[in-house]
Parts: sequence; C-alpha cells; structure tokens
Amino acid sequence: MSRTEYKTHSASEVTEALIGTTVTLAGWVDRRRDHGEMTFIDLRDHSGLIQIVVDQPKLAEGIKSEYVIQVTGTVAHRPNGEVNDHLASGAIEIDAKKITVLSQARTLPFQVSTILENNGDNPLPGEDVRLKYRYLDLRRPAMQKRLKMRSDMARAARESLYQQGFEEVETPTMIKSTPEGARDFVVPARLQPGCWYALPQSPQLLKQLLMVGGVERYFQMARCYRDEDFRADRQPEFTQLDMEMSYVGQEDVIAMGEKVIHDIWKSQGYDIPTPLPRINWQDAMDWYGSDKPDLRFGNKLVDLTDFFKDTPFRIFQADYVGAVLYKGGASLHRRQFDDWQSWARQRGAKGLAYAIFKDGEVTGPVAKHISDAERAGLKEAVKGEDGDAVFFAAGPREGSQMLLGLVRREIARRQGLLDPHKFAFTWVVNFPLFRRADDPNDDHVAVGHSQWTSMHHPFTMPSKDWIDKFDQDPGHAMSDSYDIVCNGLEMGGGSVRIHRDDIQDRVFKVLGISQEEAHRKFGFLLDAFKFGAPPHAGMAIGWDRCVAIMAGVDSIRDVIAFPKAHSGEDPMTGAPAPITAQQRRETGVDATPDHTQADRHQ
Ligand code: AMO
Ligand code: AMP
Repeated sequence: MSRTEYKTHSASEVTEALIGTTVTLAGWVDRRRDHGEMTFIDLRDHSGLIQIVVDQPKLAEGIKSEYVIQVTGTVAHRPNGEVNDHLASGAIEIDAKKITVLSQARTLPFQVSTILENNGDNPLPGEDVRLKYRYLDLRRPAMQKRLKMRSDMARAARESLYQQGFEEVETPTMIKSTPEGARDFVVPARLQPGCWYALPQSPQLLKQLLMVGGVERYFQMARCYRDEDFRADRQPEFTQLDMEMSYVGQEDVIAMGEKVIHDIWKSQGYDIPTPLPRINWQDAMDWYGSDKPDLRFGNKLVDLTDFFKDTPFRIFQADYVGAVLYKGGASLHRRQFDDWQSWARQRGAKGLAYAIFKDGEVTGPVAKHISDAERAGLKEAVKGEDGDAVFFAAGPREGSQMLLGLVRREIARRQGLLDPHKFAFTWVVNFPLFRRADDPNDDHVAVGHSQWTSMHHPFTMPSKDWIDKFDQDPGHAMSDSYDIVCNGLEMGGGSVRIHRDDIQDRVFKVLGISQEEAHRKFGFLLDAFKFGAPPHAGMAIGWDRCVAIMAGVDSIRDVIAFPKAHSGEDPMTGAPAPITAQQRRETGVDATPDHTQADRHQ
C-alpha cells in the first residue's frame, strides 16, 4: 500500500476548509468513549488529535485504546455546544464510514493519552518504567514536542553555521583516547587481540587535525562518550554541536557562537539580545560561588573575610568567610534552619552557620559568638534588613564559595525565582590554565601525573601574557578559554588551541606527561604540528543541555530519545549485558597484546 492509500491527511491537516469532503486518516486510538448508539474515538497521530464519530456500532466493534486504525469518513462541523476549545481540531469531527484495524494493542503499562495529558490528569509511572517502554513514552505529546524542538533547533544551528561558512565533517568514533577529564569507553579490536579502540570523549583532536588538513571552518553534530559519574545533566553518551575555525582568536569564536545561539533561540521564537554578557571566572566564583552562575536572579555572595578578621568566633577565624542573604528568611522556623544544616552536610559542608535579623536584633546561633561590634555592623555588611536571615560559610575559599553558591541557588529555587522560560546567558572568560589535580571540588580525572591538571583540556593555549612563563607559575597561569553558561548550567565551552609543538610539549610537562607518554598518546597530533598548523580555536555546545534548557526541563534524559538510566543501563534493551564465551574469544578481550604490537605502540 502507498502512503495515500493509508492516509490522505494528517490529523492537523483536517480543517474547516475540508468540511463535506472525504478523508482517510491513520493513527492510534487515544481514547474511546461509548454513548449508547454513538461511539467517539479520539484519533492521535504525530501531528495532533481529531474526533471520530461512529454511529454504526459494528464499525467500532472491538477497537481499544492504542490500536492503530485507519478511518475513512466525512469531515463535519461538530454540533453546537460540542466544540472543544482545547483542541486545534475542536470545531470539527469525522463521521466514520469505514474503520480498518491496522494493528492491535495490548493494555499499555501506562497511559499515553493526549487528552489525559492535556487535562493534567495522566499520572506517569517512575522513570524506570518510562525508559523500559520508551517507545510508548515517546508517544506522549510532551515528548513528541521535545523531539521536534530538538530537530528544529538542530536545523537552525546548521543553517546558522552554513551561513557563516562552515562545513560539516564526520569524524570517527573508534579512535585513540581523547582526554576530556573522564574515563574512556573502549572497544576491543578482534584483528589485534589485546588492543583496544577508545570512543572519543569529544572530537577534540580530530577537529584540530582537520584544521591542519585545510578545513577552515568545521562543525559536526558529534557523538561523545564519557565514563563518568551520573547526574541529571550528564549521560555516558551525549551529543555536542562541535565547532572549530582556523586563523581566529577568542573574540571570533565568541561572536560566531553568539550568532549560533541567537539563531537557535530565534527558531523557537525568542530574540536573545547580543552581545551576551561576560563575567571573569574569578568574579563568577567570588560573586556567585560557581563557574556557571545562574543569573536569572541577583543576590551576590558577600565576602566577610575582612569584616571578621579579628573575630572571637573560632569557626570564622578562617581563610575565607562569606555569606549569602536570605530575603525574608527570618520567618523560617528553627526546624527549617536545622534542615538547612543537614542539606549543607549532605553536600560535604561542616555546617551552615546563620544569623537572623529580627526586631532590630541579631539572633541565631552565630549571634552569641561574635563581638558586639560585629553584631552591630553585620546587617549593613550583608545589606540585609529586618526580617532577613543570612547564611555563612567559613573555611578554604573555593569550597566555601561553592557551598554558598549552592545555597544561593537553593534559596532562589525555594522562592520560585528559577523561571524555566527566562534565559540568562553569560560567557565565563579568563579561566586559569591549570587546577590542582587533587582538588576536592572537581570530579574530573587528571590527565597526567603531576599535581596539576588542565582546567579545560591539555590543548588549550595559555593567554598571551603567560605563554613564556606558564610553566614557572602554573597556579596563576591564565588561559584563552571560555564557557557559555545559561541558567546555571554549563552549556558549552571552548578555547584557543595550542598549534605549536614546543608549547604543547611544555604543557604536557606541567601535567606530568613525559615526552615518551605524550608521543605514545598524542604523537599523531604533535607530528601534525610539525607540518604547518594554522592557528585555530573553537568550542562545543552540549546539545542535550542546550535542548533541555530551551525545553525548560531539569534532566537531559527528557530531551534524548533513548537515554541511559541512572546506573548507565538501558532498561529497554537491557544493555550493558554479559557477552558469550565465544564473543570473549573472538574479540580478544582477555588477550594481552603481543610484543610486536606493543612495540609498535611505544
Ligand atoms: P567540554 O568537555 O567542556 O569541552 O564539553 C562541551 C560541552 O558538552 C557538554 N557535556 C555533556 N553533556 C552531557 N553529558 C555529558 N557527560 C557531558 N559532558 C560534557 C557540556 C559541555 O559544556 N572538546 C571540548 C570543546 C572545545 O574545546 O571545543 C569539550 O568537549 O554542555
Ligand atoms: P554552634 O551551634 O554554637 O556550634 O554554632 C556553630 C554553627 O556554625 C552551626 O550552625 C554550624 O552548622 C556552623 N558551622 C560549623 N562549621 C562551619 C563552617 N566551616 N562554615 C559555616 N558554618 C559552620
């Protein structure tokens, strides 16, 4: 059968203009209602819903929810008073003349009805069940809408990049390791027992090699694979809109990235004003306790280190004391403040001291420990008023600021300030080049064996002032890298790259990667730099996060057709699964590489 034999129209194409004509539609039975002689069937397809009226009971016999049916009938006005304003097709219906069952359905493990979802009374089962039956979950209009949104956004991104002179190039997913701070997923090579491919954590090295290969403006919707801990905004397998350009600096990439973001948001009806704001990494940490500050609301952290420099309160005799104001927080009960203490402890904090401004007094557990002068000046120091509360963190600077950053966002959440339909973008710029490998605030895998690891990745260019001396003072060296942040999420990031093998060698040295190891791991890149490498720079937008932000959902799983569950499992297919003994033998997973191969890799 051909398409026109199955259906002449989609549900949304049937409008009042077609009244009196005969149409054929196909789709799922969203819901069936029997009223004596009359049966009503809501027919659902990818485009929407339409009401079918059946006045000969025989026609609708045995038809149940989620059956796939084909209906031929006449388009008619709904009788007066029966018009459904909530439906696009609410003024019309189809008088069925013929119904064919194309496929039967068992009772679904959960309901996917548009009508129930529109009425807000479709209780969804837990995510595990939804993921096990993802193909049913995807039938829900909310999921259909997000998939369509994702597709439309990708089209807008591609068009924006084509306009800006980019070409899309695919890069392999079976490669050698690309360090992006996570563990690799690896694939055994049957023809070389004991040897493994790594799946790319990103196409980073390959896109740099494309620059050496003469592609001046590259992009790709690239699959990336990272074996790292799970979070709502992380998947082991995810997509990047990956971009790289030759003969450019940071400003060019930022301007290009802004245009792409502007055009993506435009495709969904938003006009994002550019240029986007920028903030220095250090300011973001000092003011918002985060390298991905949520700027939908204000409430900067207050540095009270100086204010408490002579304090008698032992806990505040620390490297850093900071505070975040809780507007109206004085009305919280003691129990609620206790809950905040455990909230903070769950996030690794020692505690969360607080003070309350009430009736012209400072109360709360901190009040009795601090000096009279401190008590008198506190309200002004934190720009508080009577009726507010204030939370404190004392200790090492970065960790304390990060805790206050979380408190700041949690207060905003509780106050309903996290509007998902408001988009607060900012570039974060002027990042350090390195960070301490044993940093307790960072969960990335160190790339080398020294006390330093890369803040972005090892191919990031030191900023101009630091090129000659970054190795003498790695703790202070700055880099030419940038992140794009929206609503408190790191949506993307990039950097100017090192294109000279001497600088790259020195960076590896700081990272504790020996020349021998560098050549074993990245020899192909270092070799390429010896054959004339254009200066280049680029960035990547985490595509799943970008769509999740646009859709206003908390989890990127809600914008991925077939995501992995928390544990990395796919409840639908049952992956990962053990392999057979024969597969083990064939793939050589238990083999050790023979000498000749091992030598070749040295
Ligand atoms: P980076 O590692 O910052 O940079 O990744 C770029 C963006 O990808 C997204 N992202 C993820 N999304 C979902 N699940 C994950 N596990 C995950 N990890 C990262 C984030 C992040 O901002 N090659 C460089 C880019 C460059 O320098 O051009 C890179 O991969 O939104
Ligand atoms: P007290 O209850 O009198 O011991 O006051 C100590 C308060 O300080 C409690 O609320 C603790 O949760 C809190 N606290 C302990 N360590 C820290 C810290 N490093 N930063 C902020 N608050 C802390």
